[in-house]
Amino acid sequence: MSPVIDLRSDTATRPTPGMRAAIAAAEVGDEQKREDPTVNALEDRAARLLGQDEAVFLPTATMANQIALRLHTELGDELIGEENCHVFISELGGPAVHSGVVTRGIPGAAGRYSAEQVRAAYRVPAIHSPRTRVLWVENTHNASGGRVWPLEEIDELRALAHELELRFHLDGARLMNAAVASGVDAAEIGGRFDTVTLCLSKGLGCPLGAILAGRSEVMTNARRLKHLFGGAMRQAGIVAAAGVYALDHNVDRLADDHARAKRLALGLAEAGLAVDPDKAETNFVQVDVAPLSREEAITLLAEQGVGLSATIHPTVLRAVTHLDITDEDIDGALEAIPRALGVRVGA
Ligand SMILES: Cc1ncc(COP(=O)(O)O)c(C=O)c1O
Repeated sequence: MSPVIDLRSDTATRPTPGMRAAIAAAEVGDEQKREDPTVNALEDRAARLLGQDEAVFLPTATMANQIALRLHTELGDELIGEENCHVFISELGGPAVHSGVVTRGIPGAAGRYSAEQVRAAYRVPAIHSPRTRVLWVENTHNASGGRVWPLEEIDELRALAHELELRFHLDGARLMNAAVASGVDAAEIGGRFDTVTLCLSKGLGCPLGAILAGRSEVMTNARRLKHLFGGAMRQAGIVAAAGVYALDHNVDRLADDHARAKRLALGLAEAGLAVDPDKAETNFVQVDVAPLSREEAITLLAEQGVGLSATIHPTVLRAVTHLDITDEDIDGALEAIPRALGVRVGA
C-alpha cells in the first residue's frame, strides 16, 4: 500500500484532471509513420525546449539514454561519467548489454566531476586500449540528491569533449528541475550537448514518456534505433498529449516542489535530524538516519504513514517532493519524520 505522504520519488505522481482531459481529447495517428499529430507536436516543442534541432518521443528515459549511447559508440568503446550516475548504477549494465561499451566511473562531488579528472581518465588512443568515446553528465544528479551542475563547469567539459573528440551526452531526466533551480533556460543547458535525455514522468507529472533530442542527422539514426529497441509505438498521441500538457502547466511550478523540499530540509535539520539544507537544491532532501539502517528507518517511517526511499548510502534516505505533495503534506512530514526517527537518531 502507498504511504499517506509519499515522498519516495517524483515518479509517484498521478495525472491531474487537466492532464486526463488533455489525454482524452488527444488527436492521434500512427506514430511509426510519423502520422500522430500530437507526438509530432510534442517532439517539435521538446526540440526547441532542449536547444536541439529534433526530438524523438520514447517510452522511458532509460531507453533514451541507451539509444544515445548506441548512437555515439562502437563495440568496445568507453563511456566516462560520474561513478554513481543513473546509467552506471540503475540501468542493469545497459551500456554493456545494448552497446558493448565499457564504463569508467569518476568519483564525484555532488554528482559532478572536473575537466582535470576527465583528462586523467581519458585514454590516449593506442592499439590495445578501449577508445574513450562518450562523456556523460547527469543534471540534476539523482544519487547525490538532485544536485545541479553550474553552466561554467558544463562549458569546461564541453570544450574538453570537443578537444578530445568525445561525444557529450546530458542525462537530463530532471533537466527542468535544474533549469528552474538555476534560473538558466533549459535550451541554454541542453544546447551545449550532442544529445539530451528528458524524462516526462518525474517532476513533470506524466504517466510515462521521455524525449531524446539532438541534431537532425543524429536523430534520423535515433529513430531507427527506437524501432530496434522496441520503442516505436502506434497511437502514442494518447500519452504525448500528457507531455504537451506538462510542458504548458508543470514546468514553472517545479519551483514550488523546490521550495517545499527546502522547507522540509530546514525543518528536519531544526528538529535535530542529520540533514544539510544547503544540499537541498531542487526537489530532493537527503536524511542520514545512522545509527539506524535504511531498511529499519523506512519501516519506522511507514508506520507513521510517510514514505521515504533508500539511496546508495547504507544510512541515507531521500524524500522527494513532487506534484502530488502539498504544503499540508510537508507539515505532516515535519511532524511524522522526527516522531518516527527523532528519538533514535543523532544521539
Ligand atoms: C537521472 C535519471 N536518468 C534516467 C532515469 C530513468 O528513467 P525511466 O524510469 O523513465 O527509465 C532516471 C530514473 O529515475 C533518473 O533518475
